[in-house]
Amino acid sequence: MQTPIPEYLTELLDDCAGDTSGATADYIPELGEADPNRLALALCTPDGTVYSVGDDSIEFTIQSISKPFAYALALRDRGMEEVDEHVGVEPSGDPFNEISVDPESGRPRNPMINIGAITTHCLVGNPSLTTKARAAVVLDGLSRFAGRTLEVDESVHASEYSTRYRNVALASMARSNGFIDIEPDDAVWGYTMQCSALVTVRDLSVMAMTLALGGRNPVTGEQVVPQWVCRQVLSVMTTCGMYDAAGDWLSHVGIPAKSGVSGGLLGSLPGQVGIGAFSPRLDDFGNSVRGVQLCERLSADMSLHIM
Ligand code: DON
Repeated sequence: MQTPIPEYLTELLDDCAGDTSGATADYIPELGEADPNRLALALCTPDGTVYSVGDDSIEFTIQSISKPFAYALALRDRGMEEVDEHVGVEPSGDPFNEISVDPESGRPRNPMINIGAITTHCLVGNPSLTTKARAAVVLDGLSRFAGRTLEVDESVHASEYSTRYRNVALASMARSNGFIDIEPDDAVWGYTMQCSALVTVRDLSVMAMTLALGGRNPVTGEQVVPQWVCRQVLSVMTTCGMYDAAGDWLSHVGIPAKSGVSGGLLGSLPGQVGIGAFSPRLDDFGNSVRGVQLCERLSADMSLHIM
């Protein structure tokens, strides 16, 4: 590529800015208030350099992009065997808030859908932690991936908790099947706290690069999780990170990725680059319309496809 990276990213953003299709998620009332025109992109390189354009200092809630990181923390704290007993690694083929469980065992299908993510949240830290203490361990872990202390958007948390009943139904199913052992309301309180952590695209790019470097944060130098954990997390992101669009995404873009309902998108290409994108309007799968476009272009222009 001939054009210097900052100019290239600005051109890319301008090319994608005109698409106003899709709609912001409003099933969490507070998310419906988001400015739909926000658009930002960041890339982090293995040496920790971050390039960013657009609304790159705007914070938004991380939502489902927290799921691979909570999975990483659970693997760090409980090990592969125990985590695997509680949550599988197979794509569900269902929307993210479905009761996607193995029909025989009741085990949640994977950690990227809500029922698996609520279960995964409960596996972080020591089993005797209180709900609040566990949420604090998760927030601390997310912050270590980002290389700075992340805050929680309390109004989004309150909004999501006050409309929590579908997630409580999922947590109740997981509890009834023996995969979580705390009260469903408490599990959802902690999980929605995790989803309400505030990030920028720059944070997402550093978090993605940390996964792509086998757990070493390129900015702080901290080894946040062991290398084997990142291999596991990136594998599950590859098959399950973009929900029902995961196959299409893998063949077109070819970068392990995770999206969230507030419009964030994270891409993590092993050894090479961490990507953060943000644009709140979502497609029918729940993925950011312009975030997907930005990544498609990046992948094609910079030959980032994993294959
Ligand atoms: O539990 C929920 O519904 C949200 N906290 C997160 C969902 C989400 O981000 C799905 N992503 N596309």
